[in-house]
Amino acid sequence: MKILTVLGARPQFIKASIVSDVIKSKYKNVIKEIIVHTGQHYDFEMSNIFFGELKIQKPKYFLNVSKLNHTKMISKMIKKLSDVMLLEKPDLLIVYGDTNSTIAGALCASKLNIKIAHIESGLRSFNMNMQEEINRIVTDRISNLLFCPTKEAFQNLHKENFKKMKEKQIYNMGDVMLDVHLKYKKNIKTKKKLNNYYLCTLHREENCNVKIFKNIINNLNKLSFYKNIVFPAHPRLKKIISMFKIKKKIKIIKPQSYIEFANLIHNADAVITDSGGVQKESFFLKKRCFVLRKETEWNELVNLKFNYLINPQKKNFFRQINEINSRKQFIKYKANFGNGNASKKIVKAIYTYLKNK
Ligand code: UD1
Ligand code: UDP
Repeated sequence: MKILTVLGARPQFIKASIVSDVIKSKYKNVIKEIIVHTGQHYDFEMSNIFFGELKIQKPKYFLNVSKLNHTKMISKMIKKLSDVMLLEKPDLLIVYGDTNSTIAGALCASKLNIKIAHIESGLRSFNMNMQEEINRIVTDRISNLLFCPTKEAFQNLHKENFKKMKEKQIYNMGDVMLDVHLKYKKNIKTKKKLNNYYLCTLHREENCNVKIFKNIINNLNKLSFYKNIVFPAHPRLKKIISMFKIKKKIKIIKPQSYIEFANLIHNADAVITDSGGVQKESFFLKKRCFVLRKETEWNELVNLKFNYLINPQKKNFFRQINEINSRKQFIKYKANFGNGNASKKIVKAIYTYLKNK
């Protein structure tokens, strides 16, 4: 059996690391996996660092598609992926999440009649202005195997009548990000380099326009009066960040490796982010997480009062963060992301599907 895996963005390298590991260790003699890197993320700290640290198999193809707007990026990816798929003739394509690399891979495979497995299926923000929402809806629609990370994601697909669609298998397998977290938890160092800090990450397109970003920076500057802020900055922020005066207690650093970043969450007082993955990892590490968005795909964490939606356009939202953070945290650790064996269950389901095809 031949599987082609299309990756392109930081969180996809992290998720794929554990699934590819299962393929390599348990299905070595029956499944051959070929990795294609679209090139969407290309800086050392956004790409190669993960291939090294998480021991991900080297991509056979690097498509070098980056620095383009959404339409040009997706169309160029499809063109190059089409050549790879026609050459390799895989039995199945694996894609992860909701990036431009995800939709490009899925569209290309569907047009070439190649079966598609979508890992992290069923998430919805219900905000169609978000590029990622379009990417995930289209990818779910054209995928054959849909692996949901949570019960809520699974239910979303049922509400969209996916069960009625022929040739689809839908599973709630748990979240592969929990598998990765559990694998590397032992590497987290409890020794603190810095005390009393918020960890902050940002990269959503809607938060990176000058008006909203200015409000966010104003608020972070005010928050830094009370605590340090450690801010591993996504490369998208390079230009915009230089336009503003940043207080000294905000430490802007390079994007970190997976393990270094887990250390930073573990040692933080709380997390401020617009990242999907970081919302969950904060929960895994029992840290409060302030989500700088109007809505989230991970509502279960908001309902648990672990994560808090903070409107990034609101003036003086720093007061809300300070107020919530001064409350005693009531830890109800109950959201269900599986048992840490999602990747094993997913690979088994793929193997069985291909065997019976
Ligand atoms: C993308 C995904 C988003 C995901 C995120 C993970 C889409 C539409 N969005 O957003 O779902 O949450 O990745 O991080 O696919 N850049 C660099 N160096 C890099 C990577 C990016 O300079 O290594 C620059 C790009 O040139 C671009 C900007 O950052 O100008 C944004 O990159 P892009 O991949 O388009 O979007 P992300 O915000 O990373
Ligand atoms: N991450 C990392 N280094 C950093 C910031 C984030 O390794 O400096 C990891 C983080 O632990 C999580 C993933 O990147 O596993 C989240 O990726 P990102 O925020 O880029 O995308 P999203 O999850 O929003 O799609």
